[in-house]
Amino acid sequence: MNEMHISVIGIGAGSPGHITQDAIAALASADCVLSLDKGEDKAELMAVRERIIAAHAPHVRLVSIPDPPRDRHPENYREEVKRWHRARAQRIDAALSEHLPAGGTAAFLVWGDPSLYDSTLRILDSLETPHSRSIYPGITAIQALTAAHGILLNRIGEAIHVTTARRLAATSADDRANCVVMLDGGAGWMEHYTENTVIYWGAYLSTDWQVLRRGRVSEIGAEIAELKQQLRAEHGWIMDIYLLREENPSPQQ
Ligand SMILES: C[S@@+](CC[C@H](N)C(=O)[O-])C[C@H]1O[C@@H](n2cnc3c(N)ncnc32)[C@H](O)[C@@H]1O
Repeated sequence: MNEMHISVIGIGAGSPGHITQDAIAALASADCVLSLDKGEDKAELMAVRERIIAAHAPHVRLVSIPDPPRDRHPENYREEVKRWHRARAQRIDAALSEHLPAGGTAAFLVWGDPSLYDSTLRILDSLETPHSRSIYPGITAIQALTAAHGILLNRIGEAIHVTTARRLAATSADDRANCVVMLDGGAGWMEHYTENTVIYWGAYLSTDWQVLRRGRVSEIGAEIAELKQQLRAEHGWIMDIYLLREENPSPQQ
């Protein structure tokens, strides 16, 4: 049996054009693409993946792996996520032995970049199937946000803090001075702000539905929160990301 190889391919954060030349070559030379089929996956996001496969690897087999069930409100969040990841790894092991019994290369398409709030690499670490691995970096939602607003992520010599909305409440004032927030199911920016807090907000970045807002949280925070609810109702889902920055006296141009 040949060695099993897994290519983990960052596909960027919304536009099918984000994928790199190296990633295209890796995708086109794979024997199959494995996709963990989350029932909740948004049709629009699936469409980006499908467009990438159709454009660059129409000959490569797409194998969908149904996602195991997950408790969304567990008593122990970390333990439940670990259990869920093990269950996913078992299904991937089974798919690899079914679809590539003689070895070969399987590709996983990962939203944005595989290093940023994505569990693919962690799940692959628990595979029983011996394999080698290559990672192809992708454009992250952070880069999509800064490009869309035409801003730098850091000001001169400043540190940058990246966190989730869940952790924002516990984030120190120093870290909030220049803070990217992801995975926000609500409107975390409204929870703590000063008169100098500026938000650079983006939803559906790099897609046809991209929406941007920027300004002082004290002035436009509530409006963005309402807009987010409207957009979610319209599309049935939303993905947004924002940079919070203490700015004095006026937002960066
Ligand atoms: C599970 S994380 C995946 C991040 C991804 N690996 C990356 O490199 O950007 C999902 C979060 O990324 C952000 N995100 C990803 N794509 C986005 C987009 N096109 N527009 C706005 N936010 C996005 C949102 O904060 C979302 O909650």
